[in-house]
Amino acid sequence: MRDFIVTLPKAELHLHIEGTLEPGMMFELADRNSYDLPFESLRDVEAAYRFTDLQSFLDIYYQGAAVLQTEQDFYELMRAYLDRAGADGVRHAEIFFDPQTHTERGVGFEVFMSGFRAAMADTPNISSSLILCFLRHLSGADAVEAMAMAEPHLEGVVAVGLDSSEKGNPPELFEEAYAMARELGLRAVAHAGEEGPPEYVEAALDVLGAERIDHGIRSLEKPPLVERLRKDQVPITVCPLSNVALRVVDRIEDHPLPEMMGRGLQVSVNSDDPAYFGGYIGENYLGLAEKLGFGRDELAKIARNSINSSFAEALRKAELITQLEEALSSDEG
Ligand code: ADE
Ligand code: ZN
Repeated sequence: MRDFIVTLPKAELHLHIEGTLEPGMMFELADRNSYDLPFESLRDVEAAYRFTDLQSFLDIYYQGAAVLQTEQDFYELMRAYLDRAGADGVRHAEIFFDPQTHTERGVGFEVFMSGFRAAMADTPNISSSLILCFLRHLSGADAVEAMAMAEPHLEGVVAVGLDSSEKGNPPELFEEAYAMARELGLRAVAHAGEEGPPEYVEAALDVLGAERIDHGIRSLEKPPLVERLRKDQVPITVCPLSNVALRVVDRIEDHPLPEMMGRGLQVSVNSDDPAYFGGYIGENYLGLAEKLGFGRDELAKIARNSINSSFAEALRKAELITQLEEALSSDEG
């Protein structure tokens, strides 16, 4: 099944670039930048990566991101992700980044944007774009300020998103920042219904104008919302290994993805923060096959959904769908 998964052309739509920082690279960059990490060894890292909820992860994740300081660091991070994703059959990626995590430490937009863009240009086998995320543990005014700072640096950015601590930080707080982004021609997505209630999913759609919902799994608690998501075929980017690592779901076997698919929702499968959650997109697909009994048709449907849910241009989407159908027919033959 692993070979089949790799040959499936797919899009990754929910991936935080800072969440691809592998422990090896974290130690290397800490050394290079003389940054004092709170971990001495891989064993310390393994112990720290036993998360109890989203916040326990975020505390470690922001600590790790502090080793990223130069354009070269951001280049290497992006390059390593794109190479790894390509090996899993990713042909298109829309990649989250958290500018406030870096600007707060005095690392400017020009530093990380140049590093990201150079790595994306050096990986032409994957079409890629960036999604600028606002940190919801900071204020709506901070998000507005981040958007204003970002304005001269938007080349390669396709959308804005909303991430970080969900509970107690509802989408309504970020209405103004999203309105600014819309004025600048950017698309909109938002994390909602990961740990937060289904009402946050509704507010993301109604107040922020989100065109895609990240996680969204708690939507299932509200049947009228499920019906709306189905009727409008709102894309939902689901991240099974993340949900288990952050204890939103006990085990992959208990994941609501089959129910979401059964209800006719437009779901894709993604890796979120693969360096922290035990696997890249290939492992997420493989987990569905091994633990939930997903067969080739179901995995192909998820890959097809991922392409259709993307912000890729119509021509690129059509090309990717053709590649997917060709891969499926040569697999049968
Ligand atoms: N930032 C990185 N990963 C995240 C997640 N799973 N939820 C919210 N914010 C995040
Ligand atoms: Zn996420």
